[in-house]
Order: sequence, then C-alpha cells, then structure tokens
Amino acid sequence: MGFQLRKVRVQKWLQLSRERPTWADEFNPLVDWWDSHREGLLTVKHAHYFDIYHRHLQHFRGKKMHLLEIGVASGGSLQMWKAYFGPRLRVTGVDCCPFSGMRGELEDHRTSIWIGNQEDPQFWDELVQSVPPIDVVIDDGSHVGRMQLEAFQSLWPYLAPGGAYIVEDMMFAYMDMASMASKDSDFFKGHTHWVEKLKHLMDEMQTGFTADSRLKDSVASIRGIHTYRHLCVIEKYDRGQGLRGLVHDWDVLEVGAGVQAPALAEHHAPPPIMSHPD
Ligand SMILES: C[S@@+](CC[C@H](N)C(=O)[O-])C[C@H]1O[C@@H](n2cnc3c(N)ncnc32)[C@H](O)[C@@H]1O
Repeated sequence: MGFQLRKVRVQKWLQLSRERPTWADEFNPLVDWWDSHREGLLTVKHAHYFDIYHRHLQHFRGKKMHLLEIGVASGGSLQMWKAYFGPRLRVTGVDCCPFSGMRGELEDHRTSIWIGNQEDPQFWDELVQSVPPIDVVIDDGSHVGRMQLEAFQSLWPYLAPGGAYIVEDMMFAYMDMASMASKDSDFFKGHTHWVEKLKHLMDEMQTGFTADSRLKDSVASIRGIHTYRHLCVIEKYDRGQGLRGLVHDWDVLEVGAGVQAPALAEHHAPPPIMSHPD
C-alpha cells in the first residue's frame, strides 16, 4: 500500500498556463487550487477545462450538493472538487479498477467510491437507488463513446433538477481507434456513439421528443447543451420537466409600449449607392 501511495504523490510544479476567454472570471478558485496545490494525489485535466467548469458549476459552491465523477484514478480530482465546492459537498466516485488500499484513503463521511463498469446499466440502477439525487455528473472514465452514452442514458433521468452533466475528452471519438487497439480487441467499438448522440440531442432538445426509449421521459428536461473543444455540458431544467413540443407550448410574453414598428419595407429601404471617393 505504501508503495502505491508514494507512486501517485507527485510534485506539481507547473503553473496552469491559461488562455482566459473573455467571459471567464479573472479569479478562478480551481486555477488557484491547481497553482497552489503542490502535493497530493495526482489529477490530470486539460487546462482549458477550468474556466468551463467554473462557468457552469460556480453556483453550486458552498451549497449542499452531490457530485458523481466517473473515473477516479488516483483520486486527485475528488480532492480538487472538495476544495472547490466546500464542506457541504457529497462525492461519489466510480471506477472499474478496484484500487487496492486507495479506497481507504479516499473514502470518508462524505465520499464513497463505487467499483463498477460505466457500461453496465444494472450497476447504475443499483447506484442511483442507493445514493442521494445527483446534481453534477463528470464523466472522465473510459472516454469510449458507447460507454459514455450508456452512462448518460442511465444517469440523465436521475439527475436532479438544475443539474449539470459533463462529458470530458470527447476528442477520442475523432481518433483512429483501430490503430490504438489490438487487432482483435473490440474495446473501442462504438467510440463515436457519444458524439453522434450529442448531435441528435440538439434536435431532441428542441422538440422534447426522442426515439431513444431510455430517454423518452426525460429528454424534454434538457435546458441547454454547451459544447466546447473536447468537452460538453448538458444542463437540466430546474423546474418541471421543461418543454415538450415546438412553438405551441411556449410561454410567449409580449413586451413594449404597444407602438407598432414601421413596416419592414420602409424600415429596410435599400442603402443609397455610394461611389468611392477619388
Ligand atoms: C482519466 S482517468 C480519471 C482521472 C480523474 N478523474 C482525475 O481527473 O484525476 C480514467 C479512469 O477511468 C477508469 N475507467 C476506465 N474505463 C472505465 C469504465 N468502463 N467504467 C468505469 N471506470 C472506467 C480508469 O480505471 C481510470 O481510473
């Protein structure tokens, strides 16, 4: 056990190099944690994820909430989430690899580690029946599309209202997995399934309908789909089940003083032809 723990206690000496988008806060507690956290369990995250996490998750900080991360590895990201969300966070980590000796170090009164395969719907059934409603899912597990899809189909219906579902490292869907897998391995079969589903979810969110029997009762609760390089965030409505159907279901409010706008033709008269000054 001692040997295994020593192996994952690496010195982090790099400052996070951060190309901050215009919408991102100057101060980001996750970046601060990363830069000041010089030792502890290893975590590996893309640098550009930190602003995206903070953009979508900051409203959960300090509140009572439950985060589930698929893919625990050394457990460093669980430490990061605890530091970020604060003492009222409850964490469930899921990994297919039974870490000998590590679970004892990671588990405490607010942290539990479940060992299971994210591709196994029965595993998820058992888990969702045993844990409190989940507010945030981070899928940083196998990164194989069909497994990401399975986890989403199993967990999305149980995500709490107002929750967020994040799938990381989607770039694997665009790689030539055949050359990475051994010849007779079918591990990477279906590696594009998640990104293909994501494209369909765009349509399904707009209409509230899907042919996917696993999601038919919950697809209308998608509030927004945000896709970034390598990562996506899917948000759930915080009230009710969201929208089903197109325009006829919307609450349309008329605002303004009731003054009619000038006719379009009048408003958009063609611009005068200008000649270039010599
Ligand atoms: C990228 S690591 C997780 C890193 C961790 N989230 C962090 O940021 O420090 C991926 C983890 O997913 C686990 N994993 C791979 N396939 C899985 C599967 N089918 N089900 C559950 N976990 C899986 C691996 O054992 C590995 O520990």
